Amino acid sequence: MSNDYLVVRKSQPLRGEARLAGAKNAVLPIMASLILTRGVSRIYNVPCSTDVAQMVDLLIDLGAQITFDRDARELYIDTTSLDRYSVCPKIMGKMRASAVVAGPLLARFGRAEIALPGGCLIGKRPIDIHVKSFRKLGIAVKEEGTYLRVKREGFSKKHASRRVAFEYPSVGATENIMMLATVLPGDTTIINAAMEPEVLDLIDVLQKMGADIEALPGATIRISGVTELRPIEHVVIPDRLEAGSIILAACISGGEVTIPDAIPQHMDLFLDKLAAMGHTIKTGLSDSAWGPRGIRVKACSEPEAVSFKTGPHPGFPTDLQAPMMAVQCVANGTSVIEETVFENRFMHCKELQKMGAQIDVHGNTATVRGVEDLYGAEVIASDIRASCALTLAGLVAIGTSRVTGAHHWQRAYDSLDLKLAALGGDLYLAQPDKQKELLKTVEGIGFPVRA
Ligand code: UD1
Repeated sequence: MSNDYLVVRKSQPLRGEARLAGAKNAVLPIMASLILTRGVSRIYNVPCSTDVAQMVDLLIDLGAQITFDRDARELYIDTTSLDRYSVCPKIMGKMRASAVVAGPLLARFGRAEIALPGGCLIGKRPIDIHVKSFRKLGIAVKEEGTYLRVKREGFSKKHASRRVAFEYPSVGATENIMMLATVLPGDTTIINAAMEPEVLDLIDVLQKMGADIEALPGATIRISGVTELRPIEHVVIPDRLEAGSIILAACISGGEVTIPDAIPQHMDLFLDKLAAMGHTIKTGLSDSAWGPRGIRVKACSEPEAVSFKTGPHPGFPTDLQAPMMAVQCVANGTSVIEETVFENRFMHCKELQKMGAQIDVHGNTATVRGVEDLYGAEVIASDIRASCALTLAGLVAIGTSRVTGAHHWQRAYDSLDLKLAALGGDLYLAQPDKQKELLKTVEGIGFPVRA
C-alpha cells in the first residue's frame, strides 16, 4: 500500500473534452477468460491501473507470458504455457475481482485453488453465490480457512441440461459461472444473471473465442459447452464509471464537459437523475459499433437535489453512489440515498461531514441536506469510489483538501487526476514513495539530484 494522496483545491468550473479509458470492471474478467484459451490474445483500450497490474501478476504467476504496452494501452497475453491452477494468496488478497479466475481454471484444469479475495472495504462481500452455483454444476467445493479448493469430479460427458438460479444477480458469480459453462458438456442456463455492460462485454469476448453463449431477455444467459476456445483480439468498452465521475465533476463545479467516447445506453438512469437536477444532458454525438456515442453535460447554476436508490444494472450503479452523493451535498434541498448493493458503502459520509456536508446515516439510507459551502479538509478514502467522491467535493470546497488512501484511486482510474486537471481542476496526485524511489535510482546511477 502506498502513501500517495490527492491534493485538491477549490477550482474554476471544469470545461472541455475528456477521453475515457477502457472499463476496469470489463478488462479484469476478460483477462481471466484468456485462461480458457491457448495462444496469444490482444486486448486493446486497457486502463493503466493497479488492479490491471495485479491481474497481470496473477496470470504471470500461473504461467502466462504477458507484455503490457502502457503507452498504447495494449495487452498481449500468451496462455500457451499457463500450467498452474493454484493462485498465489498474496496476489489474490489484493483484489476481489481475482475470484473470477476460479471458473476459467476449473474449465482448463478441472480444478482451482484460490484464497478468498480482498479488494475494497465495502462490506463482508461473501462469495457464497459462486460456491452454491459451482456445487449446482457438480463441482466439489472445499473451504479450508481462507482457502477455496474446487474440483470437477466424475463429470458426465453426456448431454446435460442444467439451470442455475442466482438469489441475487452477482456480477462476479455470473462471470465465473459463464466462463466455466463454456466448456461443460451440454447446456447451462443462468437465471437472474447480472446484466451489467461489463458482463455483456465478456459475453462478446467469449463469442469471439467460439463459445456458444447468448444473453436472453429476462436476465437469463444460455450457454452450450464447446470443446475448444481460441485466442482473440478485443477492444474493451469505455469505462461508464469514469464517464460518470467526469460528468459529476462538471456538474459539481458548474462547468460544461464533452465525453465523446461515453456510451449513453450504459448510463440511462444516472443521466436521468442528473437531468432531474436541472443539468442539461445531450447524448448521441456520433455513431459507433456500440450504438450512439458521446455525452455532453452543461451544469445548471441552481441544481435541485435528487433522491436515488442503487441497484443491479439497469438500476443506479452503486459505484456512482458516493460521487453522486458529493454532488448532492451542495445541491438545493434534500436527497435521500438508499444503498441496496453493498451493506457498508457509506464510509465516505463521515469524511464528507469533515468537509461540512450535512449527512445523516440510518442503516442503508443517507439523508443529505444541501449546504452553501464545503471546506477543505484532510480526509481518508476507504475505497475506490470514496476517493472519487472526496476529490469531487474538494473541487468546490473552500481551501485545500488532502485525500489520503489514493491507492484506491489508482486501483481503478487511469490518470483521472490528470484528465480533471486538463479540464481546469486544481488537483494533483502526490506520490512521495515514488519520488523517493526515483531519487534513489537517480542517485544510484550518479546523476546530480536537484532539490
Ligand atoms: C462488481 C464490480 C464492482 C461493483 C459490483 C456491483 C468488478 C471487478 N467489480 O463487483 O465495482 O460495485 O460489481 O455492481 O466488476 N454477494 C454475495 N455473495 C456472492 C457474491 C456477491 O452476497 O457470492 C453480494 C456482495 O457482497 C454485494 C453484492 O452481492 O453485496 C454485489 O456483489 P457482486 O455483484 O458480486 O459484485 P462484484 O462482482 O464483487
